[in-house]
Amino acid sequence: MKHKKLYLIPLLLIFVLISTSCCAFAEAKPDAWWQKTIAYEIYVKSFKDSDGDGIGDLRGIISELDYLRDLGVGVVWLTPCYASPQADNGYDIADYYSIDPAYGTMEDMDTLVAEAGRRGIRIVMDLVFNHTSNQNPWFLESRSGQDLEKSDWYIWMDAKEDGSAPNNWRSIFGGSAWTFDETRGQYYLHTFLPEQPDLNWENPEVQNALIDVAKFWIEKGVGGFRMDAIAYIKKPSGFPDGEPDAADGTCGIHGMTANTPGILDLLHTFRDAVQTDTDIFMVGETNGVSAEDLPLWVGENGVFDMVFEFGHVLIDLPDEMNWCKTRPWTLPELKQIFTASQEKTLLTGGWVAMFLENHDQPRSISHFLPENADRTAGGKMLATLLLTMRGTPFIMQGEELGFVNVAWDDIGQYNDVSTRNHYAFAIKEGYTEAEALSGVHRFARDSSRTPMQWDTSANAGFTAGTPWLPVHDDYETVNVASERDDPASVLNWYCSLAKLRANEPVFTEGNYTEIFHDDEKIFAFSRETEDTKAVILINFSTETASYDPACLEGAELVLSISGQDDRGMLMPLDAAVYLIR
Ligand code: NOJ
Repeated sequence: MKHKKLYLIPLLLIFVLISTSCCAFAEAKPDAWWQKTIAYEIYVKSFKDSDGDGIGDLRGIISELDYLRDLGVGVVWLTPCYASPQADNGYDIADYYSIDPAYGTMEDMDTLVAEAGRRGIRIVMDLVFNHTSNQNPWFLESRSGQDLEKSDWYIWMDAKEDGSAPNNWRSIFGGSAWTFDETRGQYYLHTFLPEQPDLNWENPEVQNALIDVAKFWIEKGVGGFRMDAIAYIKKPSGFPDGEPDAADGTCGIHGMTANTPGILDLLHTFRDAVQTDTDIFMVGETNGVSAEDLPLWVGENGVFDMVFEFGHVLIDLPDEMNWCKTRPWTLPELKQIFTASQEKTLLTGGWVAMFLENHDQPRSISHFLPENADRTAGGKMLATLLLTMRGTPFIMQGEELGFVNVAWDDIGQYNDVSTRNHYAFAIKEGYTEAEALSGVHRFARDSSRTPMQWDTSANAGFTAGTPWLPVHDDYETVNVASERDDPASVLNWYCSLAKLRANEPVFTEGNYTEIFHDDEKIFAFSRETEDTKAVILINFSTETASYDPACLEGAELVLSISGQDDRGMLMPLDAAVYLIR
């Protein structure tokens, strides 16, 4: 009996070691440059057009770098601007080594990296590595025959005996995930459009080719990479049929391939080859990786420096293909998602990529607030959440001005292929045109892609030509020039938060603890270092909200949207930030 207990001692020691090292991670002071800054996403096509062709370009971005510096931005993530036939607005890359002429030249890119660097800004490239364009020479060779050097660079399978696709997977944008290629006489797999064939990551030559691409851009001096759709690169062996979840008997590919076991081995190989002797960071787009999985993806033994976790943006969308089926949600649920993401990330010393919007999501004011919400107060309130949480905040262009969704009345006005396909899917599932359109108004990706609004001139100063996508009709009041001059604007609120974040290390270094979890109106949390505590109180509702002010003992108010210091009460959509030293 005695002996048996002795065996427990080493086990206990191991447990103590593990738990103390976890605490050590949690307390570790973030010291990487990308942990101390603010990131900004530029949708290149929509940011600023320098040559009047209606399409944003690199020279346009260069002309507005001072704007980004003044906003406090240190990282600019560019959506793909490589050579591309633009079937998915650049997420279909034909050549990873060249710039699409619509956006400029490689010389413009070099100038952008240098000019941004002079302003303390690093450029982050979007690496779309799950798939390429079907016009990429790699694919053109692969489809030409079964015995060529690149035959095995994509995922090819024979048809079933009746000639149909190898399985019932439905692509993320709708329709079968398989397309038959007449030349090769086989089907190829595409998680997204038929124009976006999936690469075969099991082939080491493919991995090496992708590693070479990353190294090329590191040598150009970029600050990091956003890894597009990266959770889909590993496919389950045998490519089994899935349980049908649509009237046509198909099954969404997301549930079949996202985060497939074995994916981390592929990514470790990639990371080990790329992140040597460099200070770049990598942020993974990981739809399908839950908060529980985060400790394997980020931190000590992770594969990325941070990942975009999707829990909060999917809170109202139980089925990503069906935009007509939404689910009501509560604030405690939303808080739980953010808190889980914070806590699970920290377990292995990881870092959070904090975001409320991107080019695939609705505008956050339209997404998370009731329709009657005042958009200026709402935009500031959401900004407070975005910029005071632990992690690197990612601002989507226009979010800092308080952009909201567009609601065009004809599906033909929408450019995005996924929007059109989601609409068609809804009609096929039996929804009326009005119902399908209201889903589009809620979730269309076009809403986050309308041109940037610089001033009150024609086309909001975005272009001297005809914009590729209409400018939002609110541009005469919501634009950079007007908001710059208005001390009460959403833009100036962002600037105040950015300054606070830059001047008070607690917002970078402090740990995160949620307060008042069950409160239905208030999202409250503290950030704490050894010598400073910040308390952040955010009223998500359009009514006043009261709380127990005991958490504010000894606190000094540093920012408040309403300008009031009513301890124990928040005005509708108000947010207040307090410091205790
Ligand atoms: C995710 C990107 O963010 C989205 O815009 C794109 O359509 C898909 N991946 C396919 O690359």
